[in-house]
Amino acid sequence: MSMLACAAVMAFSSIAHAADPIVIKFSHVVADSTPKGQGALLFKKLVEEKLKGKVEVQVYSNSSLYGDGKEMEALLLGDVQMIAPSLAKFGQYTKKLQVFDLPFLFNDIHAVDRFQHSDTGKQLLKSMENNNITGLGYWHNGMKQLSANKALHVPRDARGLKFRVQSSDVLDEQFKALRANPRKMSFAEVYQGLQTGVVNGAENPWSNIYSQKFNEVQKYITESNHGVLDYMVITNTKFWNGLPDDVRSQLTDILAQVTDTVNAEAGELNQKAKQSVIDSGTSEIIELKPEERAEWVKAMKPVWSKFEDQIGSDVIKAALAANDAK
Ligand code: LMR
Repeated sequence: MSMLACAAVMAFSSIAHAADPIVIKFSHVVADSTPKGQGALLFKKLVEEKLKGKVEVQVYSNSSLYGDGKEMEALLLGDVQMIAPSLAKFGQYTKKLQVFDLPFLFNDIHAVDRFQHSDTGKQLLKSMENNNITGLGYWHNGMKQLSANKALHVPRDARGLKFRVQSSDVLDEQFKALRANPRKMSFAEVYQGLQTGVVNGAENPWSNIYSQKFNEVQKYITESNHGVLDYMVITNTKFWNGLPDDVRSQLTDILAQVTDTVNAEAGELNQKAKQSVIDSGTSEIIELKPEERAEWVKAMKPVWSKFEDQIGSDVIKAALAANDAK
């Protein structure tokens, strides 16, 4: 090949290369029908409309690319560019986010939302940048419900049962406080764990219960609303800061729009999932009487003091303040 032809080929290939879209792999562990699943798909749709040809988003749901044990590692290695783990799964990178796992801290999802929008909530998005993790926003799933193959009305009903927990030390202690046996297990393993009796119970928002068919292997679901399961959408800091400024700023705007939509619709998705569980007739739904609820609070709340130093009392105080609607 002549020098000229060779140069032409090189020039062409570098043009072709320059025109290749930036690929964002977004991996997660839940079903497409859940708030996070819907959010990931909406993000893909809007990015591919507004940044057509410049950015391509590939969504991998239901642990199809990485399970929750591996997705964080994959993000840090640059094998995926965005993930949205539950706030219970960051213990290795910051202890402050453990605040979200403290049982009976938030009165409801609106209080969680107010805390996420507070100065402290916003600072927490940046709390892992030393670890090359940038928080881009919070997405709601919803409040967690306790389920088991035994009716759980009061804390002593849970005694001795094995409960699946996410990889969170707070959640581990929460079940120990009930004298139950917590077992950390990745999300993809939960259905089988419940089915085979490796664990007897779990805690999940309605959308995860219904979309994973956990109700088919749990006879009782107690509407406890004892804690929250929400997400932080995160990216690899070096990847994010290395994007062309205009692309980064457009992605930031799109993500803000998606966040608003996810958070506005998560409540309804969970209500629909609850109704579907009821309609399926698989499980008895247990509503707690006020005095029963008070017993769960009394049993679980002592967990707070064990984590106060790690989380920081200022962070806990800010979270509590969000219970007072402005
Ligand atoms: C779980 O492991 O139970 C959840 O974190 C799964 C999810 O992403 O909602």
